[in-house]
Amino acid sequence: METMIGVIGGSGVYDIAGLEDARWVSVDTPWGKPSDQILTGRLGGMRMAFLPRHGRGHVHSPSTVPYRANIDALKRLGVTDVIAVSACGSFREEMAPGDFVIVDQYIDRTHLREKSFFGTGCVAHVSLAHPTCARLSALCLQAARALDLRVHERGTYLAMEGPQFSTRAESLMYRDHWGADIIGMTGMPEAALAREAELCYASVAMVTDYDCWHPDHDAVDVAAVIKTVGQNAANARALIAALPGLLSSRHAACPQGCDRALDHAIMTAPDR
Ligand code: ADE
Repeated sequence: METMIGVIGGSGVYDIAGLEDARWVSVDTPWGKPSDQILTGRLGGMRMAFLPRHGRGHVHSPSTVPYRANIDALKRLGVTDVIAVSACGSFREEMAPGDFVIVDQYIDRTHLREKSFFGTGCVAHVSLAHPTCARLSALCLQAARALDLRVHERGTYLAMEGPQFSTRAESLMYRDHWGADIIGMTGMPEAALAREAELCYASVAMVTDYDCWHPDHDAVDVAAVIKTVGQNAANARALIAALPGLLSSRHAACPQGCDRALDHAIMTAPDR
């Protein structure tokens, strides 16, 4: 199968530069319309598809992003590898604003979102023990290091519902008792749905703030988030642009089995 990179852009990343044969295409899915049209084209000879998670103009809140339609639409276009870019707050002094974190674990505190493609009719339970693709995550790390970006090779992402930011008590609990490293509003159920869709998925989170636990940073606000994202969007774009040079043009079987996640997950009898 030919490799196709799908990029889901977060706050501040609404397109990608330098695509050849660039075209915004509309995709319909049984789960409704994705957040926006999808920008398709080629970068460094490799097929790419870019979807702004919140839509151009930032019209979908974290709770109303159509996560199922987004993942399904990328799959329908032939995407094999998804890179999810997002903004996040940090619970660790050493994960400073402007740094990138390659997410390897999630704590999912969201509760208003459709979380699965499976339900009545066909029941499946995929494993989320290792919720991101180690091979793709390692390539993102390699790209970030080659660009001399400040990058952390792993981190636990607390996905909160929002839209309000956390209270100080929540921030301290997530940091001191739950072991979360970063916090955002969109990481889940996106990663889980990518696994159900048997896609390789890596999450590159850009730290924009210290949330509200830090003694020297009283409270997070949107202005601070936008300012940091704006200052670092060029780094996110450079990281994306480096990926075609690192992936093989033939999508080999995933060593971790992301592309076979359903092999041992479906409960419903095939003749039902
Ligand atoms: N996105 C960016 N910063 C955040 C924070 N502190 N909490 C939740 N989502 C965020």
